[in-house]
Amino acid sequence: MAIERGEVYAAKLNDKTIATLRLQWTDDLWGTRPDDAGYVHTLAVERACAGNSIGLALLDWAAEQVRVAGRKFLRLDCMAENPALRDYYTRAGFTLQGEASKHGWKAALFERPVNLRFDLRPATDADYDFLWRLAKETMQGYVHAIWGWDEDWQAQRFRGSFDASQWRVITVDGQNAGGLLAGLRPSDGGLFLSNIYLLPGFQNRGIGSAIVQSLLAEARTSGLPLTLNVLKSNPDARRLYERLGLRVVRENAERFFMEG
Ligand SMILES: CC(C)(COP(=O)(O)OP(=O)(O)OC[C@H]1O[C@@H](n2cnc3c(N)ncnc32)[C@H](O)[C@@H]1OP(=O)(O)O)[C@@H](O)C(=O)NCCC(=O)NCCS
Repeated sequence: MAIERGEVYAAKLNDKTIATLRLQWTDDLWGTRPDDAGYVHTLAVERACAGNSIGLALLDWAAEQVRVAGRKFLRLDCMAENPALRDYYTRAGFTLQGEASKHGWKAALFERPVNLRFDLRPATDADYDFLWRLAKETMQGYVHAIWGWDEDWQAQRFRGSFDASQWRVITVDGQNAGGLLAGLRPSDGGLFLSNIYLLPGFQNRGIGSAIVQSLLAEARTSGLPLTLNVLKSNPDARRLYERLGLRVVRENAERFFMEG
């Protein structure tokens, strides 16, 4: 039974159970997948407590259990024919991954990536090798698609413009995960995002979004837009920036210039 397996949780308010959910670590409904997710079932909130975002809080709680378990996704399913529920999970940050047949009815399968917790620390000259290798590993393909990749020229250019005091290293559990170069534009004192790179194993876990969002918030308080540019060979990054509210204001043959 799910209770005996320790999968059923009750949320209490002043000693009264007001909500429940089941969190499993496998789910046949999703077919064969790696062990990379937690699966929420039977999420239910006492009607008298409706309207207090308790369901959302429970989903965030489940996401935290998934993160602590070292897994990447929170998944759940609901009746495919229930538009209100589909809408609820979409607003809670889930995206539809497909449909599956469940005990004679159709289930809509939803997934939400579980964001990694990260820190930023000032870079030092000792980080030079890491940052150069990172820039090369993450950008070589995009640069190559436009100009080709001349290793010596790229290495020299990186070295020539490197100033450790301008860089920050992105860390996850104390481990180097990426690099960030953002600072003030000399022209007007607004914020400019020059480089943001994450090692492949740390991509698509919400870190880039969180960093760009905080830069956008910082820019808003200063009343000047955040600006950046993105290579035309990198449509995935452009899509991310657009999703976060930046827009293309100008372009040349190789780049889109964006602000937000
Ligand atoms: C771009 C980048 C900083 C985004 O950070 P992230 O933590 O991976 O992003 P999030 O998890 O917050 O958001 C995911 C989005 O990032 C973008 N993204 C993911 N992997 C990417 C990659 N390898 N290259 C470019 N963009 C990528 C996509 O838009 C993705 O959303 P999707 O679901 O629409 O595909 C990171 O993926 C990266 O370092 N990419 C390689 C280097 C790069 O392109 N830097 C930006 C130069 S302008």
